[in-house]
Amino acid sequence: MLNVVIFGAPGSGKGTQSERIVAKYGLNHISTGDVLRAEIKNGTELGKTAKGYIDQGQLIPDELMIDILASVFDSFGESKGVIFDGFPRTIAQAEALKKMLSERGQEVSVMLDLDVPEDELMTRLIKRGQDSGRADDNEETIKKRLQVYHSQTAPLIDWYKNEKKYRHIKGLGTMEGIFADICDAIESV
Ligand code: AP5
Ligand code: MG
Repeated sequence: MLNVVIFGAPGSGKGTQSERIVAKYGLNHISTGDVLRAEIKNGTELGKTAKGYIDQGQLIPDELMIDILASVFDSFGESKGVIFDGFPRTIAQAEALKKMLSERGQEVSVMLDLDVPEDELMTRLIKRGQDSGRADDNEETIKKRLQVYHSQTAPLIDWYKNEKKYRHIKGLGTMEGIFADICDAIESV
């Protein structure tokens, strides 16, 4: 199985590139952000809890997120592999993912780090906030999301380097050009 972690700051293009990876390689896609937004839309208890964190630009607690991840993963059954989009976001989540996969005889194949300068991230997310109105795409919340990324999520870069799974992807440029670099990285593993 091909298990890909697509990694990057808010607005780096994880969701955009995941769609292309799914179409080309036939993987199942887990976006933890999409899962949480669906729960909010459906008004579930989990959605109510998640909304409090998302609106503040903060992460949902690890234990909760890890349980959700495992249940979505197991719902796929037979699969060519999975693309993990927005998970892991903390060292504890990375360790839990490693453990969950190894209990199922699997591992992460590659971690792709979409690297995009901060001013471009801000421009993309402000624009998306104006066009489609994701509740957390306003300047104040975007700033908090970026702070959380730097303090809690960016340490995973060294963690995956240490695991020998890390691939740097230049995330600035056309969506097609970035996707071509992603395909090269995937096909090299
Ligand atoms: P999540 O939904 O994962 O949001 P995010 O990480 O902030 O990232 P985005 O979805 O905003 O950006 P993206 O990288 O997918 O980029 P996209 O392709 O959309 O998480 C939301 C919240 O949920 C978190 O803050 C947290 O509260 C909670 N959460 C989620 N997972 C969690 C976890 N594991 N643990 C705890 N809490 C969790 O692109 C962005 C925009 O740029 C789009 O408009 C797109 O069209 C455009 N774009 C893309 N590529 C390009 C390009 N090459 N050039 C120009 N524009 C581009
Ligand atoms: Mg996304």
